[in-house]
Amino acid sequence: MDVLLKVDNLKTVFDTEDGVARVVDGVSFEVGHGETVGLVGESGCGKSVTALSIMRLVQDPPGRIAGGSVLFNGRDLLTIPEREMRKVRGNEISIVFQEPLTSLNPVFTCGEQVREAIALHQKLGRRESKRKAVEMFRLVRIPDPELRYRSYPHQMSGGMRQRVMIAMALSCQPKLLIADEPSTALDVSVQAQIMDLLLELKEKLGMAVLLITHNLAVVAQMVERVLVMYAGVVVEEAPVGGLFAEPLHPYTEGLLESLPKLGAPAGRLSMIPGNVPDPLNLPPGCRFSDRCPRRFDRCLSGEPPMFTVGRRRASRCWLREGGG
Ligand SMILES: Nc1ncnc2c1ncn2[C@@H]1O[C@H](COP(=O)(O)OP(=O)(O)OP(=O)(O)O)[C@@H](O)[C@H]1O
Ligand code: SF4
Ligand SMILES: [Mg+2]
Repeated sequence: MDVLLKVDNLKTVFDTEDGVARVVDGVSFEVGHGETVGLVGESGCGKSVTALSIMRLVQDPPGRIAGGSVLFNGRDLLTIPEREMRKVRGNEISIVFQEPLTSLNPVFTCGEQVREAIALHQKLGRRESKRKAVEMFRLVRIPDPELRYRSYPHQMSGGMRQRVMIAMALSCQPKLLIADEPSTALDVSVQAQIMDLLLELKEKLGMAVLLITHNLAVVAQMVERVLVMYAGVVVEEAPVGGLFAEPLHPYTEGLLESLPKLGAPAGRLSMIPGNVPDPLNLPPGCRFSDRCPRRFDRCLSGEPPMFTVGRRRASRCWLREGGG
């Protein structure tokens, strides 16, 4: 694999009244050129903070990156000057968040906001950048792009606003798009449309995508490889087919069991009992030990490292010691 992004032992902490919360606690993974990777896990496990850390957008204070490296095309984004980083954000990596309304400025038209982004990043004049912005609206399948160009954010539906945000994110032709729950705030049919759009754009533009979601069904359709995150660490890594066929971590097993099954009686959704632990109060040994149905003595005495299984898989579970 030709590596585009290599995150190594990334650590991000928040200073809180009760102590230092290690929210991202040694996360390592790679994304190849043009590859689509899913980052999944329950709410609060550190997915968004991981994404924000890669972009160096963690609010400081209370947050700060406490260690590790983020190599993008071989350059460590954690050590380059802020000025350089701004160029990376505008030109090489883009991020789309869950709620587009908070990211769009209510007093400017959607078209003008996309045009400005294009003018800034591609150093184009007004006429040319407007033409490109309309082209971007078309690319993200906004109907009547010339007309919609003049709409203000509040005049658009949630789905259309998310398309505007995607247009803006793609206007610099990034090599990597980070999509953090890009459709969660939308209703189900619109969610599916946004996901289809992302898939189509990814194919068309050949960029890599890091897709963050807690929806495993979305992951199954969209990505090539999956990272499962739990309580600040990656606990399983696998090609998507393998993950669904045979999960190698009890947490992944639990997530898969919580998926509604075809033909299952309504309401029989099994959830993993318990909650993601507070980063200030992790259980001893394995971070999943207080919820794990497979726990044994070893699990409480030490934290498991990531065990490699076969060529392309890994699991942070003592049951996989020795690669089995
Ligand atoms: N500004 C902050 N100050 C203190 N703690 C924070 C801050 N932002 C996030 N956290 C903590 O970091 C942890 C991880 O949060 P994060 O937003 O990354 O979770 P997530 O996996 O993206 O969840 P979700 O699926 O709900 O989006 C949580 O425990 C959260 O409380
Ligand atoms: S290390 Fe032990 S507690 Fe942790 S996931 Fe594996 S079996 Fe469960
Ligand atoms: Mg999040």
